[in-house]
Amino acid sequence: MNLLDRHVAPNPTPHNSVSTHDVVFDPSNNLWFRLFVPHKSDVVSLPIIVFFHGGGFAFLSAASHVYDAVCRRFARKLNAVVCSVEYRLSPEHKFPSQYDDTFAVLKFLDNPENRKNLPFWPENADVSTVFIAGDSAGGNLAHHLAVNYAKSSSTFSLLKVIGLVNIQPFFGGKERVNSEVELEGAPVVSMDRTQWLWKAFLPDGLDCDHWAVNVSGPNAMNISGVEYPPTLLFVGGFDPLKDWQKRYYEWLRRNEKDVKLVEYSSAIHAFYVFPELPEAELLFAEVKEFFNNQISKVRRTKI
Ligand SMILES: *[C@@H]1O[C@H](CO)[C@@H](O)[C@H](O)[C@H]1NC(C)=O
Ligand SMILES: *[C@@H]1O[C@H](CO)[C@@H](O)[C@H](O)[C@H]1NC(C)=O
Repeated sequence: MNLLDRHVAPNPTPHNSVSTHDVVFDPSNNLWFRLFVPHKSDVVSLPIIVFFHGGGFAFLSAASHVYDAVCRRFARKLNAVVCSVEYRLSPEHKFPSQYDDTFAVLKFLDNPENRKNLPFWPENADVSTVFIAGDSAGGNLAHHLAVNYAKSSSTFSLLKVIGLVNIQPFFGGKERVNSEVELEGAPVVSMDRTQWLWKAFLPDGLDCDHWAVNVSGPNAMNISGVEYPPTLLFVGGFDPLKDWQKRYYEWLRRNEKDVKLVEYSSAIHAFYVFPELPEAELLFAEVKEFFNNQISKVRRTKI
């Protein structure tokens, strides 16, 4: 984790057509996001990605060079404004602080006064086309934010979430699923580590059957009446967490949600932060198609 965690500063000078700026959105909790602005385009409006990094809720940062690089790629390839969120980490801050932080970002962006006061906010950023995205623990956060947004969407003025990109989300349970047993020893994820991470995340008295962890298990939220956004879910064949992710997929399907599962059979956990891997390229292409579809749907209904 430390290898991945070299920090880089924001760079307001466009590099490969993307400039970056750190924006404080909650000074009392020392929360900020790194804003990625694409410069090459002359399009009338840019979609917005609200992104949550991985690291088991306890590690890494929006300033980590791997996530800085991934978000730059999202901004450039998708022609989107990216807000990569620095949320509070465990074990100092336990559940639900992280969920509160993710919601606070959406509320911040919804407020036109806040946007007007941001010196680097592009005028053509369109808050009516927001995508929530995240990987690993960030995928867990993205999922719960999608639910919380859907339950309170009427309290937002202009901001609209029109899609969720969930990359190898971190879910679990007390029981060990097959993929966890069979893939013990696979890179990045080990059972000892995930058990430690859940313990660090959950307050005393809560266990891994809590709905935050075993999202589709016996204590799952009832999402049947929730307007969950259309979802693109990525799973890797060599990721020990893949069976949990597939259960999440099946649960969304049972609840009649619009979800597409993309599985790369030879991908490890966090594969897509390595641009050398062919699946990383495929992922960006897949997300681009998803964006285009969702945006054109919204634009059509607007007319
Ligand atoms: C978690 O959820 C699954 C259903 O997805 C269920 O089979 C399992 O018993 C739950 N609990 C544990 C301990 O993993
Ligand atoms: C879930 O919520 C829906 C309506 O939102 C309701 O009709 C259904 O009975 C609920 N299911 C359970 C198991 O509580």
